[in-house]
Amino acid sequence: MTKTAYSHRHWNLYMNKMNFFLLHIALITSLISCTGASNNTIESISAKTSEDSIVSDTIIPEYPDIAKEYLLGKFNPQNDTMFVKVPSQYCLLRVEYIHKDVLEPFIAMYEAAAKEGINLGIISAVRTFDTQKWLWNQRYYNSSDPKAVVKSILSYLAMPGTSRHHWGTDIDMMNTKLNFFETEEGKKSYQWLKDHAAEFGFYQVYTAGRPTGYKEEKWHWSYMPVAKEFQKQYREKITYKDITGFNGSETAEDLNVIEDYVFGTDTVNI
Ligand code: DAL
Ligand code: ZN
Repeated sequence: MTKTAYSHRHWNLYMNKMNFFLLHIALITSLISCTGASNNTIESISAKTSEDSIVSDTIIPEYPDIAKEYLLGKFNPQNDTMFVKVPSQYCLLRVEYIHKDVLEPFIAMYEAAAKEGINLGIISAVRTFDTQKWLWNQRYYNSSDPKAVVKSILSYLAMPGTSRHHWGTDIDMMNTKLNFFETEEGKKSYQWLKDHAAEFGFYQVYTAGRPTGYKEEKWHWSYMPVAKEFQKQYREKITYKDITGFNGSETAEDLNVIEDYVFGTDTVNI
């Protein structure tokens, strides 16, 4: 596998940010000098400016052309510059890799939560096609009704080639057992994420009450500034011909897996 063609483009991003900042300074200065500007107007412009700068800090990367292999999980994160190792103090089970542009915002969120006594340790970050296939095949069994088997696995596990974990943008945190979220610790942690994760760019994609897709996952959060690019390019580039190579893959199209599961994510909060 060749290494990722992406470069971080720090300088361009820095210049973008500087231009953004200077533009706002110019805007505010011209508003202040404008005789008609009320205090309210200036206050609301300033508030908008500070909101915008959170967004401009978060929405940094650009991904002009993501290779299909990355969308499908076909790479080795250990020797691919798209991914970085997560320092072990942030991982609860084993060494994890994550998309290179997600580590910093994740650590910022982790540290903010830690100040409130919440442990957002990672259970699972990037998963390759082969890892997802191993998990999938563990659950699969032969039956006269393979669609029923696949549908039941799809309650909480994506087909290989369709998981957001392939992108390195999505992480399972804390605990992936439902009853953890009935405990005081689980409730407090989840509430904290609902209140604060978006400040760091993270969103729960598998919320309750969606019409299609996986069941609710309170532990799975997605770094949207990068994930939205993967999502967009997944729609443009991936077809059912690409969803193959594991038990039950022949059911993918009938089960409308791309539309109902890959894109069966939260649309209300994101
Ligand atoms: N648990 C989510 C749906 C995944 O396997 O990607
Ligand atoms: Zn997950």
